[in-house]
Amino acid sequence: MRIGTLLATLIPFLMVAWPVSAETNKPPEPAAVARGTKLYEKYCLACHGEKGAGEAVAPWAKSYNAAPALDNSMHTWHHTDEGLAKTILKGARAGSRMPAWENTLTTEQARDLVAYIKSLWGAWELSCQGPRHMMCLRNRK
Ligand code: HEC
Repeated sequence: MRIGTLLATLIPFLMVAWPVSAETNKPPEPAAVARGTKLYEKYCLACHGEKGAGEAVAPWAKSYNAAPALDNSMHTWHHTDEGLAKTILKGARAGSRMPAWENTLTTEQARDLVAYIKSLWGAWELSCQGPRHMMCLRNRK
């Protein structure tokens, strides 16, 4: 078997079999979404916009670190629940405008925010969330 063929067989398998928490790919709990909505409005909306639509940026502001959309219009659904909670608590890459919220929010609250973010996605993004996203994008007609 050629190495290319082997990888082509193995990679999609690994992406589906990759261990992720039981929550990833599952619809969020309505109670968690309700709590997350309040937190979102208080701490996140100012940057990430109404219903996670993202920050509008003037086309000439190329180097501005805009807050991305968290709904299904960008790639937030490529991340697992754990990955998103980690970004919320620890912040994004160094130098980013995305703050680390670990001194303000508990892990539970970060999970509620993840629930809210997931409520902004469609059924397809939910089922393709996390390691499955590559395979889903490739198979999308
Ligand atoms: C001061 C503006 C600002 C605030 C307030 C803010 N963010 Fe962000 N956020 C950003 C920026 C900018 C990024 C892009 C990260 C980068 O620089 O790569 C980001 C990235 C993210 C990401 C990663 C998205 C992805 O698709 O990878 C998540 C999740 C996120 N923020 C959630 C939140 C949540 C939840 C809150 C509220 C608790 C919040 N943010 C508050 C600016 C902000």
